[in-house]
Amino acid sequence: MTTASAKDAAELYEHFKVLGQEDAYTPSHCESIRLLVEEIQDLKRSEDAVILAHNYQRPEIFEVADLVGDSLELAKRGKDFRQGTIVLCGVHFMAETAKILSPEKRVLIPDAMAGCSLAESVDADDLTAMRDELKLRYPDLKVVSYVNTTAAVKAVTDVCCTSSNALRVVESLDSDNILFCPDENLAAYVASQSDKNIIPWKGNCYVHQQIRPEALQRVRKARPEIRVIAHPECRDDVLAEADAVLSTSGMIEYARREDATDFLVVTECGLSDRLLMELPDKRFFKACQLCKYMKMITLEKTRDALVNGRDEVLLSPQLCEAARGSIERMFELS
Ligand code: 13P
Ligand code: SF4
Repeated sequence: MTTASAKDAAELYEHFKVLGQEDAYTPSHCESIRLLVEEIQDLKRSEDAVILAHNYQRPEIFEVADLVGDSLELAKRGKDFRQGTIVLCGVHFMAETAKILSPEKRVLIPDAMAGCSLAESVDADDLTAMRDELKLRYPDLKVVSYVNTTAAVKAVTDVCCTSSNALRVVESLDSDNILFCPDENLAAYVASQSDKNIIPWKGNCYVHQQIRPEALQRVRKARPEIRVIAHPECRDDVLAEADAVLSTSGMIEYARREDATDFLVVTECGLSDRLLMELPDKRFFKACQLCKYMKMITLEKTRDALVNGRDEVLLSPQLCEAARGSIERMFELS
């Protein structure tokens, strides 16, 4: 997605109608969105800034974003913008990843409290201790960490992965023993597709962990023709019910490509909004789980970030350097 040309309030109202949320996107709310979008577009120019947004963001954030994507796309393509400031509308580890890859740039996140339960489930000291202990038994052990981790964890990681390339990264390593951190569900999914010894860290995403297979079975029973697409952060009994297991952007591509019209989208709720905006002729049923961290980001806070230069992501050049290798290795392997 490139920078959207600012729509007027009536166009915004029509644009958001496809979401079926007329109570939230009323004509008067669309007018306030229009004013904020205009203000942010002006600020982007005056502050030499670019806005990167994750697929789970609120629909109005997409109106000011220069790039919308999954965590791999935000990391890979986000670093190539020429602007000196990056505003990351997503969660903190995504903003840290942008800083690690572009240490010379100013990286802002509209709310520094936008964390991630996966990133919080592992710290660098505990991971190092577990790695050192396991290496006594498995000298060839490699640490693979999901990008949903802090910079300090990335610094003690051999190679990062995302939901879209985890299996490929693991398979391309010349090691049979992998300490996979921190998502036990993604680890189990990779283990189910690989002959390698995958040793999981015990963490999970609180959003995906709440989804149960019974909910999927009920929908499938009512609509046997529905395509079930699930994120690999879900439990294995949920993934067993899915027709396809995909990253957030992988789900968009799958729904675009397939002839089916009805999809059950088993991930954070916001993705269904993004799918509807991209593919208004298809129908998306959702799992109704919100990520409270992703939803902390609003247009108002995005405007304030640009006005006040806050919250800035500050990482030492040494930490950026130490963490960068694991991300660059991922780019090379996938
Ligand atoms: P994606 O890489 O699929 O966008 O996932 C990131 C994430 O945090 C999902 O909960
Ligand atoms: Fe983290 Fe889960 Fe939110 Fe993704 S949905 S950002 S994994 S807490």
